[in-house]
Amino acid sequence: MLYSSEQIHVEAHRLYGLLACVSKARESKWTLADCEQIAPYTLEINRIKKEKNAVILAHSYTTPDLVYGVADFRGDSFQLAQQARQTQADVIVFAGVWFMAETAKILNPSKKVVIPAGRAGCTLADSMTAQDVQNLRAQYPGVPALCYINSSAEVKAQCDACVTSGNVFDIAQKMPGNRLIFVPDLLMAQNIEIELKRRGSTKEIIACGGSCCVHDKYRPEDVEKLRADHPGIIVLAHPECAPEVCRLCDYVGSTKGMADYVACSSAKQFGLLTELGLVNRLEAEHPDKTFIWPFGVCSYMKKNNLLNTLQALVSPRPDQLVEVEEELSLAAKKSIEKMFELSK
Ligand code: 13P
Ligand code: SF4
Repeated sequence: MLYSSEQIHVEAHRLYGLLACVSKARESKWTLADCEQIAPYTLEINRIKKEKNAVILAHSYTTPDLVYGVADFRGDSFQLAQQARQTQADVIVFAGVWFMAETAKILNPSKKVVIPAGRAGCTLADSMTAQDVQNLRAQYPGVPALCYINSSAEVKAQCDACVTSGNVFDIAQKMPGNRLIFVPDLLMAQNIEIELKRRGSTKEIIACGGSCCVHDKYRPEDVEKLRADHPGIIVLAHPECAPEVCRLCDYVGSTKGMADYVACSSAKQFGLLTELGLVNRLEAEHPDKTFIWPFGVCSYMKKNNLLNTLQALVSPRPDQLVEVEEELSLAAKKSIEKMFELSK
């Protein structure tokens, strides 16, 4: 990895152009010196990426050096699943958590899919097994079942369709009958029931699972404090937050939904009840706006970094190579493809 000081200088300035407005810690922003430090790595990753015809997909919750330094596509789980579905690359490097990389593999069984973070979990995906879904389905025969994309291939394989935070309400509304099984996010299940009621549907949601360890921490007092400290602030939240929090916010939506809301809004100050990575993306993309973020970091997403991305690209460890057994993959793919069909 030998680059001239001129190459590093040019790359550092490219990175600084993207990261100058992005927070590095609570009180500091990315500096040119920070960018000079990471430049040899981004140069090398981008070089090898071309050599191997690889594509890097980075979830917005990963760190800004990945998101802006090496990612070909950045976005939320739905956008990245769409990218994975249509890529022509031979290798997919998925900077995200395991269930996302697993989804990319299910959509591309013949491609090499690697995840720099290795088997990075997710408290939602890890809260539920295939047996749990089988038990629910036996208890409620004939009731359709949806799973959030934050679930294992085994859970997806047991459900009629999967959903993401961006299409969950519309797909839930489209499902037949007046009862619906939804796993594995108990808080999102409550939000679905409330949203469907608002839309005039009385569908009962039968829920099972857990919660997101980042979004379940927000409390109504966090919204009240944002409003008290920053009069006129617009508060946005992810639908993995508790309904009593969502109820107090100006907008509740997916990672992309929140980004679109900020892009279309004339407001200048936003409170964000979501993961730090989205805050950093909005800082980079809207330098004229201010973002107040109380707290919330996904330690699983932050397991991806430039070093393990480089290493996974060059010679992945077994735990970074995503494999899904064929029969399971085909069954899980049905539920993912159903989501694409229903979200048209
Ligand atoms: P998005 O669907 O908004 O990307 O959310 C994924 C996630 O893990 C949120 O915590
Ligand atoms: Fe899972 Fe929450 Fe992390 Fe998203 S933020 S990957 S839901 S633990």
